Amino acid sequence: MSTNSASHSAAPAEAPFLPGPILLLGAPGVGKGTQAQILVAHFGIPQISTGDLLRAIRNDPAKASTPDGALAKSLMDRGQLVPDELVNQIVANRLTEPDTVNGYILDGFPRTLAQAQWLDAHLVQINSPAPIIAVEIQVDEPQLLRRITGRRTCPKCNRIYNIYFNPPQVKGVCDDDTMLLCQRADDTEEAFQKRMEEYRAKTLPVIPHYKAAGRFRTVNGDAPLGTVSKDILCALKDLRGVSSDCSASETGVR
Ligand code: AP5
Repeated sequence: MSTNSASHSAAPAEAPFLPGPILLLGAPGVGKGTQAQILVAHFGIPQISTGDLLRAIRNDPAKASTPDGALAKSLMDRGQLVPDELVNQIVANRLTEPDTVNGYILDGFPRTLAQAQWLDAHLVQINSPAPIIAVEIQVDEPQLLRRITGRRTCPKCNRIYNIYFNPPQVKGVCDDDTMLLCQRADDTEEAFQKRMEEYRAKTLPVIPHYKAAGRFRTVNGDAPLGTVSKDILCALKDLRGVSSDCSASETGVR
């Protein structure tokens, strides 16, 4: 049998699953950033964290001294949301980057109903190949506070650690690049309470928006990292109508 005919008779290779544009929703500290980093490694699509983009503005002296930069800094440090128009513009600019063509993971956006409505309209306007799908990660509030106050981040590679649940090998130092780990200015108990208030008042109303559109699933975030990732993967396949042998964990996808 020639090589040629053998290749013709072989079953076609299954195309790897790519989820397209997706978003992770959830209260402060549920693990959106942590799971987004795992999904980036799995799918090779970028993470777009509006929190990270805003912190980059805040930490850049030239940008932080503009009226938008100064406003963003003061609101973020108090745990309040920055204005929709500013965040929408930042996201619109980021979505023009070529690395978003195969999909992307929005982390922390949208977090108001107005942002969700803007995003749907914007994706139609830019001819997005697929609408956005949303996965909410759920964790109880007492656990969230421990996650927030224990969080440490590498200022160079943004890798996320937790001194209680996911510590670095050497205390206070990033495993990947030996940089000293930092604690975020808004990771205090006081700012956390404000962020939770903002979440309840402004972000929870986003959920019915995606539920009504049939583009929403919830996963349990109070489980080992790998279990949460597996459940998110199952939820994404389900939402994109991909048949698979994916079996979510017992408390997994809803
Ligand atoms: P942002 O940076 O988006 O903060 P957030 O939404 O409060 O989310 P966090 O980053 O705190 O939590 P996370 O869910 O990513 O948790 P992580 O994975 O790190 O926003 C900051 C501010 O920017 C806002 O307050 C606002 O001012 C502004 N902003 C941003 N976007 C905006 C928007 N769209 N509109 C207006 N304003 C906006 O995990 C937390 C910890 O838990 C880590 O230590 C991690 O190691 C640990 N952990 C994670 N998973 C697990 C697990 N399964 N088990 C045990 N520990 C775990």
